[in-house]
Amino acid sequence: GSTLKAAAESGGHYFGTALTDGDLGVSGETSIAGAQFDMVTPGNEMKWDTTEPSNGSYNFAPGDQIVQYAQANGMRVRGHNLVWHSQLPSWVSSLPLNQVQSVMESHITTEATHYKGKVYSWDVINEPFNDDGSLRQDVFYQAMGSGYLADALRTAHAADPGAKLYINDYNIEGENAKSNALYSLAQSLLAQGVPLGGIGFESHFIVGQIPSDMQANLQRFANLGLDVAVTELDDRIQLPTTSGSLQQQATDFGAVVQDCLAVSRCVGVSQWGVDDAHSWIPGTFPGYGAATMYDGNDQPKPAYSAALSAL
Ligand code: XIL
Repeated sequence: GSTLKAAAESGGHYFGTALTDGDLGVSGETSIAGAQFDMVTPGNEMKWDTTEPSNGSYNFAPGDQIVQYAQANGMRVRGHNLVWHSQLPSWVSSLPLNQVQSVMESHITTEATHYKGKVYSWDVINEPFNDDGSLRQDVFYQAMGSGYLADALRTAHAADPGAKLYINDYNIEGENAKSNALYSLAQSLLAQGVPLGGIGFESHFIVGQIPSDMQANLQRFANLGLDVAVTELDDRIQLPTTSGSLQQQATDFGAVVQDCLAVSRCVGVSQWGVDDAHSWIPGTFPGYGAATMYDGNDQPKPAYSAALSAL
């Protein structure tokens, strides 16, 4: 195919991007998004600080805009996310611990019900692990221990039984302490009949550092009967770029796409954002940038051709 989505679809996959409401007003981004991608993840609009800024008062207008754009352009939506330690309003993190479970369940039920039938999947739990494989001691863990994970997944399933329910995290793309811990958790959740449907591998990479065992790692999760997805792919380069670093980035994008396609339960790849000009990378990792397949002028980079030819 001549576009990412056409090539992905011909193999039964999708190719997605993250979009914010701000991106929807940038014509350079929307023209690429409409042509190349068939799955959208809202960049911020379905996170707790936007959807429930104070207890029991919900704001779905920003997320609804993303859904409307997706529907108008024939794209599906990955719901992102329901439970996360970050972009969590302080009214939640400062609750008395004996109120956290009911607040979490109400949040999940209300948001997943609002978007029922409109999202392909939910990142129910985002980034639950520390890099050493221990669970983060966030307010959910403090209140419920590791039981919050099963509770969140069961609550989301009751609200929207049609959505694939994911745990999504970063630094789990290769085999390491963090991915080993997630693997054990997934095994134990499935053994208890918890409705976990997939694992999201964020894939925020540094150029030249794609784990060589990524395919094997995706495969071991798939072997548990789970879908796997590359959910937030970018590949940051220390600025300024060189033709060498851009070539390495192309090799990296091709490798990641191949790693997904080699695993039959890998459903698709999503890039985190459309272009280098609007990527979150320069603001979060000073000195780094150029992390996407499209440059600051919305021209496709070598990484684009490499991803396309790997599909
Ligand atoms: C990022 C957004 O892109 C930024 O706009 C925001 O300021 C911070 O969050 N892992 C995730 C995403 O799961 O939600 C994050 O998105 C990037 C890291």
